[in-house]
Amino acid sequence: MQVYVYDNYEALSIAAAKIVAEALKQNPALKLGFSTGSTPLGLYAELVRLHKSEGLSFSKAFGFNLDEYLGLPACDEQSYHFFMQEQLYRHIDIPPENSFIPDATAKDPTAEAARYEGLISAHGGIDLQILGVGTNGHIGFNEPGSPWDSPCRVADLAYDTLVANARFFDNDMEKVPKQAITMGIATILAAKRIIFMASGQAKAEIIGKILKGEQTLNIPATALQNHPDVALLLDKAAALDVLLPNRSRPPM
Ligand code: GLP
Repeated sequence: MQVYVYDNYEALSIAAAKIVAEALKQNPALKLGFSTGSTPLGLYAELVRLHKSEGLSFSKAFGFNLDEYLGLPACDEQSYHFFMQEQLYRHIDIPPENSFIPDATAKDPTAEAARYEGLISAHGGIDLQILGVGTNGHIGFNEPGSPWDSPCRVADLAYDTLVANARFFDNDMEKVPKQAITMGIATILAAKRIIFMASGQAKAEIIGKILKGEQTLNIPATALQNHPDVALLLDKAAALDVLLPNRSRPPM
């Protein structure tokens, strides 16, 4: 894993966007893997700016999202369909038929997960995957304990994730969907290149564990150590445990 530390979130986001823009220029038909959450918001804003001000085109590109909450229709404001439209897709020129997110309203979610895995394979796999991390080390919705050879599948959200994501659901954990369709760890590891991003002090401890700790099923992101081309982009706050490993932690 190549680690890059930036002064702040804005610098991290601009750096990530530069990698995406460069890859798109090299290969206009790039297969991008997109993630949701707070972390990639700055990257998406910068990609929109590059599209509007500097002519960066996504007209031949493809987008595949990591995951979607089970049961949420695309029109639900908390769905990742809605997120992608609002944060990226409606501002750029990616053809709607080139952007894919698991259909979380499918009658048979297990079959939908298998279809989604097949769809990614049929397009030749992901060229460049954008990835964030949960405070418990999850990637996509691959929670602690997820097998590393897992393909796209229906997964249960961990308690920690329900707590963390309640902020998007009126701070009510009960309203957070309990399951999702997610790319599996094997799907993620099959991406040719990964931009792995973390921002803010809340991620410092897990980033420290990912970088210094043993590989363990309990921290799904440690699977990324097996990938040959991961760029880990951190702001200083997220890098705190790496830069200052012995600092004392204030009581929570
Ligand atoms: C969510 C998503 C992940 C994301 C993570 C971190 O639950 N399933 O793909 O990376 O949580 O989110 P954030 O960037 O808001 O911290």
